Amino acid sequence: MSTRIVIDTGRRRLIGAAGAAGLITLLGPRHAPAAEAHAAMPAAGATPGFKPDVEMDLDAVAGEINVLPGNATRVWRFTGRVTQGDPRALSFLDGSRHIPVIRVRRGQKLRINFTNRLPEDSIVHWHGLHIVQRMDGHPMYAIGSGRKYVYEFVVDNRAGTHWFHPHPHERTGFQVYFGMAGLFLVADDEEDAARLPRDEFDLPLVLQDRTFNAANQLVYVAPGMMDRMMGFQGDRVLVNGAADYTRAVQRTAYRLRVLNASNSTLYSLRWSNGRPLTLIGTDGGLLERPMTRGSLTLGIGERAEVWVDFSSQQPGDEIALVADSWSPSLENITSLQTGAAPVQGGRPIARFRVANGGARKLELPQRLSSFPALKIEDAVNRARPRTIQLSMQRGQAMLNGRVFGRMDEVADDEKVRLGTTEVWEFANDASFGMRMAHPMHVHNLQFRVLERSRPAQPGRVQQALGAGLTDEGLKDVILVMPGERVKVLMKFEDYTGIYLYHCHILEHEDLGMMRNYLVQA
Ligand code: C2O
Ligand code: CU
Ligand code: CU
Repeated sequence: MSTRIVIDTGRRRLIGAAGAAGLITLLGPRHAPAAEAHAAMPAAGATPGFKPDVEMDLDAVAGEINVLPGNATRVWRFTGRVTQGDPRALSFLDGSRHIPVIRVRRGQKLRINFTNRLPEDSIVHWHGLHIVQRMDGHPMYAIGSGRKYVYEFVVDNRAGTHWFHPHPHERTGFQVYFGMAGLFLVADDEEDAARLPRDEFDLPLVLQDRTFNAANQLVYVAPGMMDRMMGFQGDRVLVNGAADYTRAVQRTAYRLRVLNASNSTLYSLRWSNGRPLTLIGTDGGLLERPMTRGSLTLGIGERAEVWVDFSSQQPGDEIALVADSWSPSLENITSLQTGAAPVQGGRPIARFRVANGGARKLELPQRLSSFPALKIEDAVNRARPRTIQLSMQRGQAMLNGRVFGRMDEVADDEKVRLGTTEVWEFANDASFGMRMAHPMHVHNLQFRVLERSRPAQPGRVQQALGAGLTDEGLKDVILVMPGERVKVLMKFEDYTGIYLYHCHILEHEDLGMMRNYLVQA
Protein backbone atom coordinates (compact mmCIF):
# COMPACT_ATOMS: atom_id res chain seq x y z
CA MET A 1 0.00 0.00 0.00
CA SER A 2 1.40 3.37 -0.86
CA THR A 3 0.81 6.70 0.72
CA ARG A 4 -0.18 9.28 -1.85
CA ILE A 5 0.47 12.96 -1.75
CA VAL A 6 -0.80 15.78 -3.85
CA ILE A 7 1.36 18.67 -4.69
CA ASP A 8 0.36 22.18 -5.25
CA THR A 9 3.24 23.14 -7.46
CA GLY A 10 2.20 26.76 -7.73
CA ARG A 11 2.14 27.42 -4.04
CA ARG A 12 5.06 25.16 -3.16
CA ARG A 13 3.12 23.13 -0.73
CA LEU A 14 2.36 19.46 -0.46
CA ILE A 15 -0.98 18.48 0.91
CA GLY A 16 -2.35 15.11 1.86
CA ALA A 17 -4.80 13.41 -0.50
CA ALA A 18 -8.30 14.06 0.75
CA GLY A 19 -10.09 11.39 2.67
CA ALA A 20 -7.38 8.93 3.52
CA ALA A 21 -6.14 8.51 7.04
CA GLY A 22 -2.55 8.84 8.19
CA LEU A 23 -1.48 11.14 5.41
CA ILE A 24 1.75 12.95 5.41
CA THR A 25 2.17 16.63 4.94
CA LEU A 26 5.40 18.04 3.70
CA LEU A 27 6.49 21.59 3.53
CA GLY A 28 8.06 23.13 0.52
CA PRO A 29 10.34 21.64 -2.07
CA ARG A 30 13.25 19.64 -0.84
CA HIS A 31 16.46 21.48 -0.48
CA ALA A 32 18.55 20.15 -3.32
CA PRO A 33 21.97 18.89 -2.32
CA ALA A 34 23.89 20.44 -5.19
CA ALA A 35 24.80 23.69 -3.47
CA GLU A 36 28.52 23.03 -3.04
CA ALA A 37 28.75 21.77 -6.58
CA HIS A 38 27.46 24.86 -8.27
CA ALA A 39 29.44 27.13 -6.05
CA ALA A 40 32.51 25.48 -7.56
CA MET A 41 31.16 25.52 -11.09
CA PRO A 42 29.52 28.80 -12.01
CA ALA A 43 26.68 28.53 -14.52
CA ALA A 44 28.02 28.77 -18.02
CA GLY A 45 27.58 32.04 -19.87
CA ALA A 46 27.35 32.57 -23.59
CA THR A 47 30.67 32.28 -25.41
CA PRO A 48 31.26 35.29 -27.68
CA GLY A 49 33.01 33.22 -30.37
CA PHE A 50 30.22 30.67 -30.61
CA LYS A 51 27.92 31.50 -33.53
CA PRO A 52 24.76 29.43 -33.18
CA ASP A 53 22.63 28.33 -36.14
CA VAL A 54 19.74 28.12 -33.73
CA GLU A 55 19.32 29.93 -30.45
CA MET A 56 16.39 29.60 -28.10
CA ASP A 57 15.19 30.48 -24.63
CA LEU A 58 13.90 27.62 -22.56
CA ASP A 59 12.33 28.35 -19.19
CA ALA A 60 11.19 26.00 -16.46
CA VAL A 61 8.06 27.51 -14.97
CA ALA A 62 5.07 26.74 -12.80
CA GLY A 63 1.84 26.87 -14.77
CA GLU A 64 -1.48 25.30 -15.53
CA ILE A 65 -2.68 23.03 -18.30
CA ASN A 66 -6.04 21.60 -19.19
CA VAL A 67 -6.01 17.83 -19.18
CA LEU A 68 -9.36 16.74 -17.80
CA PRO A 69 -12.72 18.51 -18.04
CA GLY A 70 -13.16 20.97 -15.19
CA ASN A 71 -10.31 22.42 -13.17
CA ALA A 72 -6.99 23.14 -14.80
CA THR A 73 -4.07 21.04 -13.56
CA ARG A 74 -1.14 22.79 -11.90
CA VAL A 75 2.14 21.65 -13.39
CA TRP A 76 5.74 22.56 -13.85
CA ARG A 77 6.59 22.92 -17.50
CA PHE A 78 8.93 24.22 -20.14
CA THR A 79 8.14 27.33 -22.11
CA GLY A 80 10.37 29.01 -24.64
CA ARG A 81 10.93 30.51 -28.06
CA VAL A 82 13.47 30.58 -30.82
CA THR A 83 15.40 33.84 -30.81
CA GLN A 84 17.60 33.09 -33.80
CA GLY A 85 17.36 30.69 -36.73
CA ASP A 86 14.48 28.52 -37.92
CA PRO A 87 11.46 29.23 -35.67
CA ARG A 88 10.31 25.63 -36.20
CA ALA A 89 13.26 24.46 -34.11
CA LEU A 90 11.03 24.73 -31.04
CA SER A 91 7.38 23.79 -31.03
CA PHE A 92 4.92 22.20 -28.64
CA LEU A 93 3.17 18.90 -29.18
CA ASP A 94 -0.29 18.91 -30.64
CA GLY A 95 -3.01 19.02 -28.07
CA SER A 96 -0.74 19.42 -25.09
CA ARG A 97 0.89 22.77 -25.82
CA HIS A 98 3.18 22.01 -22.91
CA ILE A 99 5.46 19.25 -24.19
CA PRO A 100 8.23 20.97 -26.13
CA VAL A 101 9.81 19.51 -29.25
CA ILE A 102 13.23 20.68 -30.35
CA ARG A 103 14.02 19.83 -33.99
CA VAL A 104 17.55 20.23 -35.25
CA ARG A 105 19.89 18.78 -37.85
CA ARG A 106 23.13 17.02 -37.25
CA GLY A 107 25.99 19.50 -37.44
CA GLN A 108 23.96 22.49 -36.30
CA LYS A 109 25.28 24.73 -33.59
CA LEU A 110 22.79 25.24 -30.84
CA ARG A 111 22.56 27.73 -28.01
CA ILE A 112 19.85 27.16 -25.43
CA ASN A 113 19.41 29.74 -22.70
CA PHE A 114 17.85 27.83 -19.86
CA THR A 115 16.27 29.80 -17.02
CA ASN A 116 15.11 28.03 -13.91
CA ARG A 117 11.93 29.70 -12.69
CA LEU A 118 10.97 26.79 -10.46
CA PRO A 119 11.11 27.24 -6.70
CA GLU A 120 13.96 24.72 -6.44
CA ASP A 121 17.18 23.64 -8.15
CA SER A 122 17.06 22.20 -11.63
CA ILE A 123 19.18 21.47 -14.69
CA VAL A 124 18.36 20.04 -18.12
CA HIS A 125 19.83 16.81 -19.43
CA TRP A 126 19.73 15.95 -23.16
CA HIS A 127 18.97 12.26 -23.05
CA GLY A 128 20.69 10.40 -25.88
CA LEU A 129 23.04 13.14 -26.98
CA HIS A 130 26.76 12.73 -27.40
CA ILE A 131 27.95 15.91 -25.76
CA VAL A 132 30.70 17.49 -23.66
CA GLN A 133 30.43 17.02 -19.90
CA ARG A 134 29.46 20.62 -19.11
CA MET A 135 26.51 20.47 -21.49
CA ASP A 136 25.18 17.11 -20.34
CA GLY A 137 23.04 18.41 -17.47
CA HIS A 138 24.76 16.39 -14.77
CA PRO A 139 23.25 17.15 -11.34
CA MET A 140 26.54 18.83 -10.33
CA TYR A 141 25.47 21.69 -12.61
CA ALA A 142 22.04 22.18 -11.05
CA ILE A 143 21.19 25.86 -10.75
CA GLY A 144 19.05 27.57 -8.16
CA SER A 145 15.75 29.30 -8.64
CA GLY A 146 16.04 32.37 -10.86
CA ARG A 147 19.43 31.32 -12.27
CA LYS A 148 20.35 30.77 -15.86
CA TYR A 149 22.45 28.11 -17.62
CA VAL A 150 23.64 28.55 -21.17
CA TYR A 151 23.99 25.40 -23.26
CA GLU A 152 26.12 25.62 -26.37
CA PHE A 153 26.92 22.59 -28.44
CA VAL A 154 27.15 21.16 -31.90
CA VAL A 155 24.56 18.47 -32.58
CA ASP A 156 26.72 15.45 -33.13
CA ASN A 157 24.21 12.59 -33.15
CA ARG A 158 22.88 10.75 -36.15
CA ALA A 159 19.17 11.26 -36.82
CA GLY A 160 17.05 10.00 -33.97
CA THR A 161 14.38 10.55 -31.38
CA HIS A 162 16.00 11.85 -28.24
CA TRP A 163 14.50 13.75 -25.36
CA PHE A 164 15.27 16.06 -22.48
CA HIS A 165 14.30 16.29 -18.86
CA PRO A 166 15.58 17.77 -15.59
CA HIS A 167 18.32 15.91 -13.73
CA PRO A 168 18.78 17.50 -10.29
CA HIS A 169 19.80 14.91 -7.74
CA GLU A 170 16.89 13.36 -5.83
CA ARG A 171 14.34 15.54 -7.62
CA THR A 172 14.28 14.16 -11.16
CA GLY A 173 11.24 11.93 -10.57
CA PHE A 174 9.30 14.78 -9.02
CA GLN A 175 10.10 17.35 -11.71
CA VAL A 176 9.45 15.02 -14.63
CA TYR A 177 6.20 13.83 -13.08
CA PHE A 178 4.90 17.36 -12.71
CA GLY A 179 5.46 18.09 -16.38
CA MET A 180 9.10 18.65 -17.25
CA ALA A 181 10.00 16.62 -20.34
CA GLY A 182 10.39 17.29 -24.04
CA LEU A 183 11.53 15.71 -27.29
CA PHE A 184 14.82 16.39 -29.02
CA LEU A 185 14.57 15.24 -32.64
CA VAL A 186 17.68 15.13 -34.77
CA ALA A 187 17.51 14.91 -38.57
CA ASP A 188 20.34 14.17 -41.01
CA ASP A 189 21.03 13.47 -44.69
CA GLU A 190 20.86 9.72 -44.28
CA GLU A 191 17.38 9.98 -42.80
CA ASP A 192 16.31 12.28 -45.66
CA ALA A 193 17.50 9.61 -48.11
CA ALA A 194 15.25 6.99 -46.49
CA ARG A 195 12.24 9.12 -47.55
CA LEU A 196 10.16 8.45 -44.49
CA PRO A 197 6.83 10.17 -43.86
CA ARG A 198 7.48 13.71 -42.66
CA ASP A 199 5.79 16.82 -41.31
CA GLU A 200 2.19 15.97 -40.36
CA PHE A 201 2.91 12.29 -41.11
CA ASP A 202 5.70 12.19 -38.54
CA LEU A 203 3.92 11.80 -35.20
CA PRO A 204 5.64 11.77 -31.81
CA LEU A 205 3.76 9.91 -29.08
CA VAL A 206 4.98 10.64 -25.56
CA LEU A 207 3.66 8.11 -23.03
CA GLN A 208 3.30 9.15 -19.39
CA ASP A 209 1.08 7.71 -16.70
CA ARG A 210 -0.47 10.01 -14.15
CA THR A 211 -2.95 9.97 -11.29
CA PHE A 212 -5.32 12.88 -10.75
CA ASN A 213 -7.35 13.65 -7.64
CA ALA A 214 -10.97 14.80 -7.69
CA ALA A 215 -9.84 18.40 -8.19
CA ASN A 216 -7.80 17.36 -11.28
CA GLN A 217 -4.48 17.83 -9.49
CA LEU A 218 -1.59 15.44 -9.97
CA VAL A 219 -0.92 12.90 -7.26
CA TYR A 220 2.58 11.51 -6.80
CA VAL A 221 4.03 8.89 -4.46
CA ALA A 222 5.15 9.88 -1.05
CA PRO A 223 8.91 10.15 -0.89
CA GLY A 224 9.00 7.22 1.52
CA MET A 225 11.58 4.52 0.97
CA MET A 226 9.15 1.76 0.11
CA ASP A 227 7.16 3.83 -2.36
CA ARG A 228 10.32 4.85 -4.11
CA MET A 229 11.51 1.27 -4.28
CA MET A 230 8.28 0.26 -6.00
CA GLY A 231 8.31 3.31 -8.24
CA PHE A 232 5.28 5.32 -9.27
CA GLN A 233 2.43 4.03 -11.42
CA GLY A 234 -0.38 6.32 -12.45
CA ASP A 235 -3.89 5.13 -13.11
CA ARG A 236 -4.14 6.56 -16.61
CA VAL A 237 -1.78 6.83 -19.53
CA LEU A 238 -1.50 10.26 -21.13
CA VAL A 239 -0.29 10.49 -24.70
CA ASN A 240 1.27 13.83 -25.58
CA GLY A 241 -0.26 15.15 -22.37
CA ALA A 242 -3.79 14.22 -23.44
CA ALA A 243 -6.00 11.92 -21.40
CA ASP A 244 -7.81 10.60 -24.46
CA TYR A 245 -5.53 10.85 -27.44
CA THR A 246 -7.49 10.56 -30.67
CA ARG A 247 -6.27 11.66 -34.04
CA ALA A 248 -7.67 11.76 -37.54
CA VAL A 249 -5.24 10.18 -39.99
CA GLN A 250 -5.15 10.05 -43.76
CA ARG A 251 -5.08 6.85 -45.77
CA THR A 252 -1.34 6.73 -46.06
CA ALA A 253 1.80 5.85 -44.10
CA TYR A 254 2.93 7.48 -40.87
CA ARG A 255 6.08 7.44 -38.83
CA LEU A 256 5.31 7.17 -35.12
CA ARG A 257 8.01 8.07 -32.63
CA VAL A 258 7.05 6.54 -29.32
CA LEU A 259 8.83 7.62 -26.13
CA ASN A 260 8.22 6.10 -22.73
CA ALA A 261 8.60 9.20 -20.54
CA SER A 262 6.89 7.66 -17.52
CA ASN A 263 8.53 7.58 -14.13
CA SER A 264 8.43 3.82 -13.55
CA THR A 265 5.95 2.12 -15.84
CA LEU A 266 6.87 -0.32 -18.58
CA TYR A 267 4.59 -0.66 -21.58
CA SER A 268 3.84 -3.48 -23.91
CA LEU A 269 2.27 -2.03 -27.06
CA ARG A 270 0.28 -3.66 -29.84
CA TRP A 271 -2.27 -2.76 -32.50
CA SER A 272 -5.93 -3.24 -31.67
CA ASN A 273 -6.51 -5.05 -34.97
CA GLY A 274 -3.90 -7.70 -34.19
CA ARG A 275 -1.52 -6.63 -36.96
CA PRO A 276 2.18 -6.80 -36.17
CA LEU A 277 4.06 -3.59 -35.48
CA THR A 278 6.69 -2.49 -37.97
CA LEU A 279 9.70 -1.28 -36.03
CA ILE A 280 11.97 1.11 -37.92
CA GLY A 281 13.99 2.75 -35.17
CA THR A 282 15.06 2.54 -31.55
CA ASP A 283 16.81 4.86 -29.05
CA GLY A 284 19.69 5.92 -31.27
CA GLY A 285 17.81 6.31 -34.53
CA LEU A 286 16.79 4.24 -37.53
CA LEU A 287 17.50 0.53 -37.78
CA GLU A 288 19.36 -0.78 -40.81
CA ARG A 289 16.15 -2.34 -42.05
CA PRO A 290 12.60 -2.59 -40.77
CA MET A 291 11.44 -5.53 -38.70
CA THR A 292 8.11 -6.70 -37.38
CA ARG A 293 6.97 -7.54 -33.87
CA GLY A 294 3.72 -8.78 -32.39
CA SER A 295 4.23 -6.36 -29.51
CA LEU A 296 6.77 -3.78 -28.44
CA THR A 297 8.15 -3.47 -24.93
CA LEU A 298 9.26 -0.01 -23.86
CA GLY A 299 11.24 0.49 -20.68
CA ILE A 300 11.47 3.94 -19.16
CA GLY A 301 13.40 6.30 -21.42
CA GLU A 302 13.32 3.92 -24.40
CA ARG A 303 12.11 5.01 -27.82
CA ALA A 304 10.60 2.98 -30.63
CA GLU A 305 9.90 4.27 -34.11
CA VAL A 306 7.04 2.54 -35.86
CA TRP A 307 5.91 2.62 -39.48
CA VAL A 308 2.16 2.33 -39.89
CA ASP A 309 0.27 2.29 -43.16
CA PHE A 310 -3.41 3.24 -43.10
CA SER A 311 -3.84 3.12 -46.90
CA SER A 312 -5.73 -0.15 -46.96
CA GLN A 313 -8.15 1.03 -44.25
CA GLN A 314 -11.60 2.37 -45.03
CA PRO A 315 -12.65 5.89 -44.07
CA GLY A 316 -14.15 5.80 -40.59
CA ASP A 317 -12.06 2.85 -39.42
CA GLU A 318 -10.51 3.26 -36.02
CA ILE A 319 -7.27 1.58 -35.03
CA ALA A 320 -5.79 1.96 -31.60
CA LEU A 321 -2.42 1.47 -30.06
CA VAL A 322 -3.15 -0.71 -27.05
CA ALA A 323 -0.88 -0.73 -24.00
CA ASP A 324 -0.44 -3.15 -21.18
CA SER A 325 1.14 -1.25 -18.31
CA TRP A 326 3.57 -3.06 -16.05
CA SER A 327 5.19 -2.04 -12.83
CA PRO A 328 8.92 -2.79 -12.60
CA SER A 329 8.07 -5.63 -10.27
CA LEU A 330 6.33 -7.06 -13.35
CA GLU A 331 2.84 -6.84 -12.02
CA ASN A 332 0.27 -5.96 -14.59
CA ILE A 333 -1.13 -2.60 -13.60
CA THR A 334 -3.83 -2.69 -16.22
CA SER A 335 -5.27 -5.88 -14.84
CA LEU A 336 -4.97 -4.69 -11.26
CA GLN A 337 -7.01 -1.66 -12.18
CA THR A 338 -9.55 -3.07 -14.56
CA GLY A 339 -9.76 -6.64 -13.38
CA ALA A 340 -9.11 -7.73 -16.97
CA ALA A 341 -6.94 -10.72 -17.66
CA PRO A 342 -3.24 -9.91 -17.53
CA VAL A 343 -1.31 -9.70 -20.80
CA GLN A 344 -4.51 -9.36 -22.83
CA GLY A 345 -5.84 -6.68 -20.52
CA GLY A 346 -4.45 -3.64 -22.30
CA ARG A 347 -6.18 -0.34 -22.81
CA PRO A 348 -6.25 1.71 -26.00
CA ILE A 349 -4.03 4.71 -25.34
CA ALA A 350 -3.96 6.33 -28.79
CA ARG A 351 -6.77 6.08 -31.33
CA PHE A 352 -6.31 6.76 -35.02
CA ARG A 353 -9.48 7.48 -36.98
CA VAL A 354 -9.12 7.10 -40.71
CA ALA A 355 -10.37 10.18 -42.54
CA ASN A 356 -12.17 10.39 -45.89
CA GLY A 357 -10.10 10.77 -49.00
CA GLY A 358 -8.07 8.71 -51.42
CA ALA A 359 -5.46 6.20 -50.41
CA ARG A 360 -1.83 7.06 -51.03
CA LYS A 361 0.40 4.03 -50.86
CA LEU A 362 3.95 4.65 -49.71
CA GLU A 363 6.66 2.02 -49.99
CA LEU A 364 8.30 1.01 -46.76
CA PRO A 365 12.01 1.47 -47.45
CA GLN A 366 13.91 -1.78 -47.01
CA ARG A 367 17.16 0.03 -46.32
CA LEU A 368 16.89 2.65 -43.59
CA SER A 369 20.37 3.47 -42.38
CA SER A 370 23.84 2.14 -41.76
CA PHE A 371 25.50 2.04 -38.40
CA PRO A 372 28.83 3.35 -37.30
CA ALA A 373 31.12 0.36 -36.85
CA LEU A 374 31.35 -0.97 -33.31
CA LYS A 375 33.30 -4.20 -33.30
CA ILE A 376 33.50 -6.74 -30.53
CA GLU A 377 37.08 -7.50 -31.65
CA ASP A 378 37.98 -3.95 -30.62
CA ALA A 379 36.78 -4.34 -27.05
CA VAL A 380 39.65 -4.04 -24.58
CA ASN A 381 37.83 -6.23 -22.03
CA ARG A 382 36.15 -8.78 -24.23
CA ALA A 383 37.21 -11.66 -21.98
CA ARG A 384 36.38 -9.87 -18.73
CA PRO A 385 33.45 -7.52 -19.19
CA ARG A 386 32.88 -4.76 -16.66
CA THR A 387 29.99 -6.17 -14.65
CA ILE A 388 27.45 -3.93 -12.95
CA GLN A 389 25.32 -5.73 -10.40
CA LEU A 390 21.87 -4.27 -9.91
CA SER A 391 20.45 -4.80 -6.47
CA MET A 392 17.65 -3.76 -4.19
CA GLN A 393 18.32 -4.48 -0.56
CA ARG A 394 17.72 -2.95 2.84
CA GLY A 395 15.89 -0.01 1.35
CA GLN A 396 18.64 0.79 -1.11
CA ALA A 397 18.72 0.56 -4.88
CA MET A 398 22.36 0.04 -5.81
CA LEU A 399 24.88 -0.44 -8.60
CA ASN A 400 27.66 -2.78 -7.56
CA GLY A 401 26.60 -2.24 -3.97
CA ARG A 402 27.01 1.53 -4.20
CA VAL A 403 24.69 4.49 -4.36
CA PHE A 404 25.30 7.92 -5.84
CA GLY A 405 27.70 9.72 -3.53
CA ARG A 406 29.60 12.94 -4.01
CA MET A 407 28.74 14.72 -7.24
CA ASP A 408 32.11 13.89 -8.78
CA GLU A 409 32.77 10.59 -7.05
CA VAL A 410 34.18 7.90 -9.32
CA ALA A 411 35.48 4.53 -8.13
CA ASP A 412 38.52 2.91 -9.73
CA ASP A 413 36.34 0.41 -11.54
CA GLU A 414 34.32 3.25 -13.06
CA LYS A 415 37.17 4.73 -15.08
CA VAL A 416 37.51 4.13 -18.81
CA ARG A 417 39.93 5.34 -21.48
CA LEU A 418 39.03 7.76 -24.23
CA GLY A 419 38.97 6.04 -27.60
CA THR A 420 38.50 2.53 -26.24
CA THR A 421 35.66 0.09 -26.78
CA GLU A 422 34.34 -1.92 -23.85
CA VAL A 423 31.83 -4.58 -22.96
CA TRP A 424 29.62 -3.74 -20.01
CA GLU A 425 27.42 -6.37 -18.48
CA PHE A 426 24.34 -5.35 -16.50
CA ALA A 427 23.57 -8.20 -14.13
CA ASN A 428 20.17 -8.35 -12.49
CA ASP A 429 20.88 -11.60 -10.70
CA ALA A 430 18.26 -10.74 -8.09
CA SER A 431 19.36 -13.72 -6.05
CA PHE A 432 18.33 -11.88 -2.90
CA GLY A 433 16.49 -8.63 -2.24
CA MET A 434 13.61 -7.43 -4.42
CA ARG A 435 13.07 -8.78 -7.91
CA MET A 436 12.50 -5.92 -10.29
CA ALA A 437 13.21 -4.98 -13.87
CA HIS A 438 15.68 -2.08 -14.21
CA PRO A 439 15.96 -0.01 -17.41
CA MET A 440 19.67 0.86 -17.39
CA HIS A 441 20.80 4.05 -19.10
CA VAL A 442 24.27 5.31 -19.99
CA HIS A 443 24.87 8.99 -20.72
CA ASN A 444 26.86 10.37 -23.61
CA LEU A 445 26.79 7.43 -26.00
CA GLN A 446 24.78 4.82 -27.85
CA PHE A 447 25.65 1.15 -27.42
CA ARG A 448 24.88 -2.13 -29.16
CA VAL A 449 23.37 -5.07 -27.34
CA LEU A 450 25.64 -8.10 -27.64
CA GLU A 451 23.71 -10.69 -25.73
CA ARG A 452 20.95 -11.16 -23.25
CA SER A 453 20.93 -14.22 -21.05
CA ARG A 454 17.48 -15.33 -20.06
CA PRO A 455 16.74 -16.96 -16.73
CA ALA A 456 15.95 -20.66 -16.93
CA GLN A 457 12.35 -20.13 -15.95
CA PRO A 458 11.09 -16.67 -16.78
CA GLY A 459 7.59 -15.99 -15.46
CA ARG A 460 4.71 -15.50 -17.86
CA VAL A 461 4.95 -11.72 -17.62
CA GLN A 462 8.64 -11.73 -18.22
CA GLN A 463 8.13 -13.93 -21.26
CA ALA A 464 5.48 -11.59 -22.64
CA LEU A 465 7.71 -8.57 -22.14
CA GLY A 466 10.72 -10.45 -23.48
CA ALA A 467 8.94 -11.09 -26.78
CA GLY A 468 8.66 -7.38 -27.48
CA LEU A 469 12.08 -6.13 -26.40
CA THR A 470 13.82 -3.69 -28.71
CA ASP A 471 17.46 -4.67 -28.36
CA GLU A 472 18.17 -3.79 -31.98
CA GLY A 473 19.96 -0.80 -33.34
CA LEU A 474 21.75 1.78 -31.25
CA LYS A 475 20.57 2.00 -27.68
CA ASP A 476 21.04 4.16 -24.62
CA VAL A 477 18.56 2.39 -22.32
CA ILE A 478 18.31 -1.35 -21.93
CA LEU A 479 15.68 -3.18 -19.93
CA VAL A 480 17.25 -5.77 -17.64
CA MET A 481 14.66 -8.10 -16.16
CA PRO A 482 15.05 -10.19 -13.01
CA GLY A 483 17.54 -13.01 -13.47
CA GLU A 484 18.89 -11.56 -16.72
CA ARG A 485 22.32 -10.39 -17.73
CA VAL A 486 22.67 -8.07 -20.68
CA LYS A 487 26.01 -7.39 -22.36
CA VAL A 488 26.45 -4.20 -24.33
CA LEU A 489 29.27 -2.84 -26.46
CA MET A 490 30.17 0.82 -26.29
CA LYS A 491 32.90 3.18 -27.38
CA PHE A 492 34.04 6.23 -25.44
CA GLU A 493 34.65 8.83 -28.09
CA ASP A 494 35.61 12.49 -28.37
CA TYR A 495 35.01 13.71 -24.83
CA THR A 496 36.76 13.12 -21.57
CA GLY A 497 34.95 13.80 -18.32
CA ILE A 498 32.34 12.59 -15.89
CA TYR A 499 29.09 11.08 -17.13
CA LEU A 500 26.30 9.14 -15.48
CA TYR A 501 24.95 5.64 -15.76
CA HIS A 502 21.81 4.82 -13.85
CA CYS A 503 18.52 3.05 -13.59
CA HIS A 504 15.91 5.10 -15.46
CA ILE A 505 13.12 4.25 -13.04
CA LEU A 506 13.10 7.83 -11.83
CA GLU A 507 12.37 6.88 -8.23
CA HIS A 508 15.36 4.51 -8.29
CA GLU A 509 17.56 7.18 -9.80
CA ASP A 510 16.45 9.57 -7.06
CA LEU A 511 17.17 6.91 -4.44
CA GLY A 512 20.73 6.84 -5.72
CA MET A 513 20.73 3.93 -8.19
CA MET A 514 23.07 6.08 -10.21
CA ARG A 515 26.84 6.39 -10.52
CA ASN A 516 29.43 8.41 -12.38
CA TYR A 517 31.87 6.98 -14.85
CA LEU A 518 34.95 8.86 -15.91
CA VAL A 519 36.38 8.99 -19.42
CA GLN A 520 40.11 9.63 -19.11
CA ALA A 521 42.53 10.79 -21.77
CU1 C2O B 1 17.09 10.31 -19.23
CU2 C2O B 1 20.34 10.47 -16.82
O1 C2O B 1 18.71 10.43 -18.03
CU1 CU C 1 20.46 10.46 -20.33
CU1 CU D 1 15.78 0.38 -11.02
